[in-house]
Amino acid sequence: MTGPTWLFGYGSLIWRQDFPFLDARPAFVTGWERRFWQGSHDHRGVPDDPGRVVTLIRSSGRRCYGRAFLIEPDVFEHLDHREINGYRRYPVDLGLPQAQVPGVMYVADTDNPAFLGDAPIDAMVAQIRRCAGASGTNVEYVLELARALRALDETDPHVEDLAARLGTTPEGH
Ligand code: SIN
Repeated sequence: MTGPTWLFGYGSLIWRQDFPFLDARPAFVTGWERRFWQGSHDHRGVPDDPGRVVTLIRSSGRRCYGRAFLIEPDVFEHLDHREINGYRRYPVDLGLPQAQVPGVMYVADTDNPAFLGDAPIDAMVAQIRRCAGASGTNVEYVLELARALRALDETDPHVEDLAARLGTTPEGH
């Protein structure tokens, strides 16, 4: 990569920017859906008890909404380290409000060693409620993602479902 590149963020990249960027826009990718199916042994869990974070799953015709950041090529060194636990860079066409542009995104494939896949919603909630890692609690990840998507006027039913269940204590307080 030689010049500034559009990066599509759909998870923590939407709400935790520890990297410089030149521009940011609401964005979507087509043919993908966001799922809490990736294990986190570092940021939101530990090797013995991984948390759950989002990845993208191929889903014909569906759109995943997030945020695109225009970044300088040298920023990828930092991001490759941040997304090291199973994610790899994919080239992708991004939909921006007024344009379609080439870009990249980090996706954790179903065959990466940290991939967890689907689970009953109650099991996912219990795992997320329990787990924490170097970047903080797993609950924070879910609630911050839900908040950031709402701020973009997006509601993702999968994220909202988990956030609603996690936003209160098990006793309902
Ligand atoms: C992303 O946010 O685009 C990748 C997944 C994550 O870091 O949560």
